Amino acid sequence: MKKKVLVISASLRPGSNSHALAEQFAEGARQAGHEVELVSLRDKEIRFCRGCTACQKTGSCVIRDDVAPLLEKLRAAQVVAFATPIYYYELCGQLKTFLDRTEPLYGRENAFRQVYLLSAAAETEDFVPKRAESGIQGWIDCFENLELAGTVFAGGVQGPGEMTGHPALEQARAMGAAVQ
Ligand SMILES: Cc1cc2nc3c(=O)[nH]c(=O)nc-3n(C[C@H](O)[C@H](O)[C@H](O)COP(=O)(O)O)c2cc1C
Repeated sequence: MKKKVLVISASLRPGSNSHALAEQFAEGARQAGHEVELVSLRDKEIRFCRGCTACQKTGSCVIRDDVAPLLEKLRAAQVVAFATPIYYYELCGQLKTFLDRTEPLYGRENAFRQVYLLSAAAETEDFVPKRAESGIQGWIDCFENLELAGTVFAGGVQGPGEMTGHPALEQARAMGAAVQ
């Protein structure tokens, strides 16, 4: 069945390694016939959640920045893939800041059911993305009927544009193509 797939790419730098994973995932999902949108947080103004919880009454955030249109896309997508650089063994701050700002969706009817996490880091060991996976799992656990459906980790990439020929690219494409 054709699904709406939203890919959110969090790295702010040109030539981003995790963005290359995001593009491959999106391409795979597109080839499989899904409706896919890839958005980057790079050109977005995303301010910190203030914790006022006004959104729990009104359904919308008091902060006027670029988050509201992203939330519209997010709540309508059945499948969401997040791409992040690993920063200090965790999700990058800009992705965490965005996740905090999804508070208007908390406790409401949302379409999303499956989450994927794509990450890139300089180190190669298996433990490197684990806290980021745990971080995204924490967000997932706060929403009903949502699961971590898959992860791809590209280790050994430090500078921008280092993903050429990396095996994680094909893993990300295959994961996108396998979305059901
Ligand atoms: C603030 C910061 C923290 C980082 N922390 C880690 C780390 O804990 N482990 C690691 O292997 N690489 C770390 N890196 C390296 C990045 O994960 C790596 O350069 C990655 O390829 C960046 O992905 P991007 O090109 O998508 O931004 C860090 C880089 C920065 C700038």
